[in-house]
Amino acid sequence: MPFPKIVWLNERMQRAGLLQRLAHEKLATYGFYQVPEEEKVHYVRRHFNSVADCYDLMNTILSFGIHYQWKRSAIRAMRLKPGDRVLDVCGGTGDLAILAAEHVKDTGQIVLYDINREMILAGKHQPRHGDIRKKIKYVQGDIEAISLPDNSMDAAMVGFGIRNVTHMEKGFAEMYRVLKPGGVMMCLEFSKPVSSVFRWLYDMYSFYIMPWLGQMIAGTRSAYIHLPETIRLFPLPDELSDMLKSIGFSHITYRRLTNGIAVVHTGIKEV
Ligand SMILES: C[S@@+](CC[C@H](N)C(=O)[O-])C[C@H]1O[C@@H](n2cnc3c(N)ncnc32)[C@H](O)[C@@H]1O
Repeated sequence: MPFPKIVWLNERMQRAGLLQRLAHEKLATYGFYQVPEEEKVHYVRRHFNSVADCYDLMNTILSFGIHYQWKRSAIRAMRLKPGDRVLDVCGGTGDLAILAAEHVKDTGQIVLYDINREMILAGKHQPRHGDIRKKIKYVQGDIEAISLPDNSMDAAMVGFGIRNVTHMEKGFAEMYRVLKPGGVMMCLEFSKPVSSVFRWLYDMYSFYIMPWLGQMIAGTRSAYIHLPETIRLFPLPDELSDMLKSIGFSHITYRRLTNGIAVVHTGIKEV
């Protein structure tokens, strides 16, 4: 059953109730639709297969290029140092990994971890930042079972990926597990604009213009209907902070970017 067309799932109780019912029925949300829990990952994979070739171009067009600014702010929030080992989960075409590589210098290491081979390849073979890309280690896998040892990374980040994950808490718990004590976690995700006027404009843009651009440029309208739907179901900043705290992260902070369209959360694994 689809939800009504435009809805921000913005009340804690609303979300808790929905998630409890879905868990009970072994279902998961896929945008405003509900699918069997174990099948969601296949839907997500198909979704990113359909957009991989146009992913970077579409991001730049749809965000008017602002996503690069958000990514730079998010990387700065992690305070990376030369020599750090950084994990970029749901790393996709590698924008965050490249920015992180510039901070950790030649002595550091970046691991880009993504479930989707098409997304990894779409980034890996781009000539732009070719030298930096060669230094990144690419691993295909699911954030819910990261194939890295415990306490092995100085930083772990996830950009615009966690809201697609079937069990979000499991993904964050895996990031926590692989971090060294004292290591920093960063999550950059879309959220709900603060101003109601701006939010109305953003809703119109998201549900009417974005799908049209998706059809015209990437040849898929459905992928760009799915995108705004997932954003509206994602936990709000305070809810996400509580989830991170319950996983074990401390010193949790968040910062809204561009009136709250995007939010950067950071947290530390306790020593
Ligand atoms: C919207 S893209 C974000 C890419 C990149 N981080 C960025 O900021 O541009 C989301 C990525 O998450 C990946 N992804 C989705 N579910 C995943 C999972 N369970 N485990 C690992 N990666 C996943 C997708 O394949 C896709 O590349």
